[in-house]
Amino acid sequence: MPLAAIAAKEGTPVYVYSAAVLRERYRAIDRAFGAYPHALHYAMKANSTLALVKVLRELGSAADANSIWEIEVARRAGFEPAQIVFTGVGKSQAELECAVSLGVKAINVESAGELSRVEAIATRLGRTARVAIRVNPDIDAKSHPHISTGLKINKFGVPIEEARELFDTLASRRALTLVAIHLHVGSQITTIEPLRRAAAVATDLSLHLMQRGLPLEYVDLGGGLGISYDGGEIVSVQEYVDALVAEASRTSLPIVLEPGRAIAGPAGVLLATVIDVKPRTAESEFAVLDAGMTELLRPALYGAFHQIEPVSRRADADGRQYEFVGPVCESSDVVGRDRQLPPLAVGDLVAIRDAGAYGSAMASNYNRRPLPPEVLVDGGAWRVIRRRQTVDDMMALESQ
Ligand code: LLP
Repeated sequence: MPLAAIAAKEGTPVYVYSAAVLRERYRAIDRAFGAYPHALHYAMKANSTLALVKVLRELGSAADANSIWEIEVARRAGFEPAQIVFTGVGKSQAELECAVSLGVKAINVESAGELSRVEAIATRLGRTARVAIRVNPDIDAKSHPHISTGLKINKFGVPIEEARELFDTLASRRALTLVAIHLHVGSQITTIEPLRRAAAVATDLSLHLMQRGLPLEYVDLGGGLGISYDGGEIVSVQEYVDALVAEASRTSLPIVLEPGRAIAGPAGVLLATVIDVKPRTAESEFAVLDAGMTELLRPALYGAFHQIEPVSRRADADGRQYEFVGPVCESSDVVGRDRQLPPLAVGDLVAIRDAGAYGSAMASNYNRRPLPPEVLVDGGAWRVIRRRQTVDDMMALESQ
């Protein structure tokens, strides 16, 4: 990608995405299913910038939205309601009303109470609501605790024992159509076992329901497939899909997946400029960047690792050790610890890798920092798909 040219024209910080990588990552998952029926609902929470979502829709992706606002973006990207699943642990009354009246493919219901609220809304509107029940299978995803969702102590889903009782009530609830069992046990999962076990739980429950005469349409196994941020070996897309198909094929039902990171993560970098270099310890220096936790929260929030590379290398080679930090007034505003890089000088450009997912989507205006622009590189050309926020944009909502 022409990173230096983009930085020269648009300034930094800036997110740069490769449409080619985005397409390849989507197709890799799609292809891995072979002939097995499936639908990929891209998890918009990973990155819902309109032009990026449109690239995926053009490939045949469907959408997973986590709020009415993501549903609205999905609609503006051209998705039909029947292509949208609505997930999320806390859906407000207004959000549920919107989803029921739109007639989305499924509302992934997270509790008995929410199921009753959906039923009441559907009854009032004279509609039948399509629901999937998100079960909490009590499985340890072995990911970072902040992004593990499948344990009983996590807030997500209906506990599995309670789910069975809930199913017994469904046959008589005429305003509801149960279309699927749904689960999602966490994100950035790098081993196959939790994913396989979750698929087995969803399969067993689906079979249980089908045997009792409830005609399900598909099984929704959520997202969660990790990517290798540090270059280490992790479960491959093929191994992942094979494991899911091996389980879910016992139902013959199509598989729905909600991948976010595995598609968008590797497709983006965050470009930043070194704005200061100063001593730290005898062995290391601070490299202060013009991007930090406001542009990429993951390192500060989860201690996440992102590779940092100089965009142009200096000829003299002896590496130095850097602590990459952002400009925000927080000690946790660290982008990368103890990195060995060729010597850096103020003004140098660095690329922070794998920032396509949960980068711009989690950015904030803390310290009144404007949201950076986003650039999409496609077929040798590039264009700004979101311009840099201005102070006027930020203050447009405020009164004197
Ligand atoms: N489906 C559901 C119900 C989810 O909660 C999530 C992610 C996904 C699908 C997509 O998961 P993925 O394929 O991207 O792993 N901010 C964190 C990640 C939070 C993920 C939340 N839910 C991070 O930066 O690591």
